[in-house]
Parts: sequence; structure tokens; C-alpha cells
Amino acid sequence: MTRLTIRRPDDWHLHFRDGETMRAVVPHTARQFARAIVMPNLSPPVTTTAMAGAYRDRIRAAVPEGLEFTPLMTAYLTDHSDADDLAVGHADGVLTAAKLYPAGATTNSASGVTDVANIMGVLERMAAIGMPLCVHGEVVDAEIDIFDREAVFIDRVLAPLVARLPELKVIFEHITTSDAVAFVEGSGPNVAATITPQHLHINRNAILVGGIRPHMYCLPVAKREEHRLALRKAATSGSDSYFLGTDSAPHHRGAKESDCGCAGIFNAPFALESYLQVFDEENALDRFETFASLAGPRFYGFPVNAESVTLERGEVLVPGEVDGGGEPVVPFHAGETLGWRMVG
Ligand code: DOR
Ligand code: ZN
Repeated sequence: MTRLTIRRPDDWHLHFRDGETMRAVVPHTARQFARAIVMPNLSPPVTTTAMAGAYRDRIRAAVPEGLEFTPLMTAYLTDHSDADDLAVGHADGVLTAAKLYPAGATTNSASGVTDVANIMGVLERMAAIGMPLCVHGEVVDAEIDIFDREAVFIDRVLAPLVARLPELKVIFEHITTSDAVAFVEGSGPNVAATITPQHLHINRNAILVGGIRPHMYCLPVAKREEHRLALRKAATSGSDSYFLGTDSAPHHRGAKESDCGCAGIFNAPFALESYLQVFDEENALDRFETFASLAGPRFYGFPVNAESVTLERGEVLVPGEVDGGGEPVVPFHAGETLGWRMVG
């Protein structure tokens, strides 16, 4: 197969940031995707319907003329989230979902939830109104090894939550382990997972072998090879339980190449090409549309996009850096040649 035409895909997990950076990165996503679930971990975080509505307006204003792109907004949950405000935002179509960051788990998560028990009333309300919960699935306890934080989160937090609120729609985001795949497999239709391109391409060696590679560092951190292989199998299985969520997370070059480099991989410029390479390597081109364009809308309860995109075999060289709004950002696959390119 040398050409592949699929329904236009969506990105079900994405960081745009705000201001100049946002204006620089939005076009990369809008070029490929019809919709994206936009993460709320700005500083300060997007915690209310009003803040999400204003942020949505700023994103819409950054979409280049001629491109159709719909940002789907999320509210950042805190110990003090207001269930009424979230319910109004969801009913009005401003908020698609709410996001659970365990406090301290990742970038701008300091105001996140310190204990899921503190938001049980909010989660019950979300279950009742059919508002999905996006979950960053890592515990933050200092005594838990960083490579075990996702697996421990499943046991301590996610499994009890799903058992308690089986009707709540839960997206286990950016999964990185075979443990997460097993959890999704053992759960009912209200639990699904997103998988990033980087977790399909790299294992933890990419961060640490031959020197420290800050541009390969994100959270949850890439794990051992056996986990990458489990993720590739899940993503390319054709199951509706797994769908595309890039977790593209731009940080300027200086913030990554630093004493304390930020977590996040900026994969937006060639996200579709990156994923497709994996499906090609796994002889699963026929399952790419399910992962990229069908399973996500089905889970979220949205229509599948009417338009289509076409990708063609052919070399595309990923630049060493792209503009991040006055300062450079290093994209995923910088300097590499990918084997597919978008042609329409
Ligand atoms: O690597 C990450 N970067 N993981 C996250 O959970 C957050 C993200 C960011 O916002 O930079
Ligand atoms: Zn993220």
C-alpha cells in the first residue's frame, strides 16, 4: 500500500499552552486533526467553565484561515472543584471533560487533587451527567520508584475508583505499561486509554543510553521494552478501547536542556506520520483508522469526522527545531526521516 485515506483524525490529549507559544503550535495540530482535547494545566490552571470558554476563544483565534479545527475543552480538577459549574459547562458544550492530575505528578499540577476522596462528589455528578474523566495515572509518593508509578496508581487509585463508579467514563491517558493495557482489557466499555507516539517508538534507553536526552523525557516516563511492545500491540489491535492522544507538550529548548529539564515531548508537527510509521511496521495499516479516527469519537460520544485525510509513502525530514513563539522547540523525531507524509 502506498497511499492511505482515512477519516480525518482527532487528538484526544494535547497541550497548547497559551500566548505566543500557543499561537505558534496550534497550526501544527490544526493541519492534521479536526478536534483535540485540550489540557488545562496552564499557569494558573483552567479550573472553571468561564476560564475554559475564554481559553477556547484564544485557541480559536490562533487557527489559521482555511483550516477547520475545534478545540474540546477540559477543566482542571482541584480539591475544591465546583460540581455545579462543571455541570453547567458540560451542558453548554464548553467543557467536554474534566482532568484529574494527582497533585505534584507533572507540569503545573501543584493545584491538582491531593486525594480522590476529596472530589468523590464531583465524580459522582460527572458519572450522572455522562461527563468523561481524563486521568493522569501516576502516584506521586516519594517512596515509589518513578518507573512503577503508573502500575501503583492502578492498584491504589484507578481500580477502586472504577469499581466504585462503574458508570463514569474514564480515559486512562498516555498509558506506558503492560499493566495499564491489562487493566483496560479487564475493564468494561466505560474505560479506554490514549497512547502517545513516543511511547510506541521509544523505551527508557532512549532517555539514558549514550548521554542524557532531555527531549525524550516526558511523564509518565517511557518504560522497558516489554512495555513498549505491549503498547504497540494494544494500539494496533483494532480495539475501540485505545485511541490517539499525542500528549504533545511543547517546552522551549532552554527549559528542556537545563539542570531540571521540563517533562514533555513536542510531537505535534509530525504526529500522524509518526503514528502511521508504527502501524506500518506492525503490518496494521488497515487498523490505523480505528485508532486515529473512529474509536475516540465513539468513546466520547461524538460523530466521526465527515472529511478525510490522505497519507502517502515518501520521505519527510523532521527539522531540528521549530518556532515555539519566539523561542525554538525541538520536535519529536528531530533530524530523522519518516516514511509517510500527509498529502491532503
Ligand atoms: O510530559 C508531560 N508533559 N507529561 C504531562 O503529564 C504534562 C506535560 C506538560 O504539560 O508539559
Ligand atoms: Zn498531557
